[in-house]
Amino acid sequence: MPQPFYITTPIYYVNDVPHVGHAYTTIAADVQARWHRLLGHEVFFLTGLDEHGQKVQQAAAKAGISPQEHCDRLTLQFQTLWQKLGISNDGFIRTTDARHQAVVQRFLQELYDNQLIYRAEYTGWYCTFDERFWTEKDVNDGRCPDCQRPVEQLSESNYFFRMSQFQQRLLDHLEANPTFIRPESRRNEVAGFLQKPLEDLSISRPKSRLSWGIELPFDADYVTYVWFDALVNYMSALEYLPSQPSVERLWPATVHLVGKDILTTHAVYWSTMLMALEVPLPHTIFAHGWWTVDGEKMSKSRGNVLDPHAMVDQFGTDAFRYFLLREVPFGQDGDFAFESFIGRINSDLANGLGNLLSRTITLIQRFSDGNVPAPVASASTELETELQTTAESLLHDHLPTHLRSDRIAFNRALEAIWGLVQLGNQYIDKTAPWVLAKDPACSARLQTVLFHAAETLRFLCLATYPFMPDTAREMARQLGLPYNFSQALLKDPIAWGDGGSGTTVVKGKALFPRVDAPATPSPAQPQAGASASSPTDENSRINIQDFQKVELKVAKILTAERVPKSNKLLKLQVDLGTEQRQIVAGIGKKYGPEDVVGKTIVVVANLKPAKLMGVESQGMVLAAGDEDVEGLVTFKDVDPQPGTKVK
Ligand code: MSP
Repeated sequence: MPQPFYITTPIYYVNDVPHVGHAYTTIAADVQARWHRLLGHEVFFLTGLDEHGQKVQQAAAKAGISPQEHCDRLTLQFQTLWQKLGISNDGFIRTTDARHQAVVQRFLQELYDNQLIYRAEYTGWYCTFDERFWTEKDVNDGRCPDCQRPVEQLSESNYFFRMSQFQQRLLDHLEANPTFIRPESRRNEVAGFLQKPLEDLSISRPKSRLSWGIELPFDADYVTYVWFDALVNYMSALEYLPSQPSVERLWPATVHLVGKDILTTHAVYWSTMLMALEVPLPHTIFAHGWWTVDGEKMSKSRGNVLDPHAMVDQFGTDAFRYFLLREVPFGQDGDFAFESFIGRINSDLANGLGNLLSRTITLIQRFSDGNVPAPVASASTELETELQTTAESLLHDHLPTHLRSDRIAFNRALEAIWGLVQLGNQYIDKTAPWVLAKDPACSARLQTVLFHAAETLRFLCLATYPFMPDTAREMARQLGLPYNFSQALLKDPIAWGDGGSGTTVVKGKALFPRVDAPATPSPAQPQAGASASSPTDENSRINIQDFQKVELKVAKILTAERVPKSNKLLKLQVDLGTEQRQIVAGIGKKYGPEDVVGKTIVVVANLKPAKLMGVESQGMVLAAGDEDVEGLVTFKDVDPQPGTKVK
């Protein structure tokens, strides 16, 4: 039996309602948990709330209610959101749980009895917001080096944990365990932090200053520092939340997912606390990046804090889950741009996966009485072999590699899945079943094509489940697959052709309706991608009048520069013959500004203006490529005059 898979999210402060940052880590942990359950591993997925400390006490005072009442109200908000986001946590811990508090007190007493906690007078610069002292050398101009708020000088008697004693051991551990802190850049950061002498950690707060906390078992005048209390949750939960409570079975945790801002508290405070308690360290602490919104830091004062409820109500749970994990590599910072979100819904989800499902079901209903036919071996070609090898390597190589908890690369896993989606759509385009159906001599070939299209979707249904559970269930329902996703469906390798044929398909609603973006139509890459991968199924063909609505013109690029904070967008000034226009184009990964100046290109001239990362775009350039731009559309033999019509 492999070791159980124990995954945690940070426990979130209840000083405010949940936002996209909280949703991000929780969705990431959910994907990991669902993946491991599919593989048949025992999983314990823990999330919860951090309910003590100054911030919570202040938030309750502001609301005019008791801290406990405040925590209870906020708990409901978090739990409702997790339900809405399809979070499958096995445990939910609250630091006000009496059993958690008892464990914190037991740990404190043990460290105190072992002389690893001592009392001392301390004078330093205190930051109320971060609830911590800073030394003279840390403070810049009377401000906290972390949050930049003013600090005040305080002198008080407190209890200290001898964290400094464990510095070398922690360095050795880091050295000996390359996957302890992930990604590598964060591991280097922690190693760098440990080059400076580590100080002892104040783990108490006098009740005169803060009463909302767990009382120290050896001094009733103090409560526990909120981080000492919170970090213990990862172990205390195992004593009372799993259906068979057991620290021995589930500890050490496989992976703690955390945001980059709380890496030090985990990598240094938590690790040294565990060493002092003589408990093994977690296998991996994985720190993810931060989201900004349209290039700006989220903050209440800017009014740009993304509400996950609104996001789900407007775009659906699975689209939101998909976007968060697809857009940005998990360890890196990312920007939440609505244009990209809508672009991905329309291109990857509606035109990609949704279209593949709906056209396959329609074709099977029309040409095979609604039943997935069996393939005819003699009618197979290289196209089928390519589909099969891509699908099998997706489930058996790519997903296991990119979802490893010490290497997490959700975006690459999703790229691999969408590689198969694209191949599936191309397969239907190339084989054109509607043409095969017209010739009775092609019936074996038609049968084979319909089978392979359905089989592709069966693999996609299994692969997408951890990321988009509702979508996978709906796909299985429409394909007539008897899948129960709470079972270990990937315990044994899935082979091509061992479960698709004979099932009866059912036409259902579109998986992802296209989203119109009246205020922000994006001339950027996602839409170019959308047209590149869009279906050429007979139902979706357009007539010449539709095409003529699009005004295509020759343009010459006069200047080009990168849009700040974007590696994808270039701001172009183009000559359109009768006027000069500014166009923002998503070609920056392929071309630098110097590569494109002087080029004669084709643009869509009658697109409504839109803003991309705050920069106005008055048109769209034509480029080839789906996910990544492969090349700009240019002219080979002549360079027509700017403004010339392209038809
Ligand atoms: N209570 C502590 C954690 C204790 S764990 C033992 C805490 N809570 S928090 O609510 O402030 O933050 C929780 C998580 O949200 C952190 O991992 C943080 O990185 C994440 N995020 C907060 N804002 C974020 C973004 N804008 N983007 C991504 N994640 C962000 O810290």
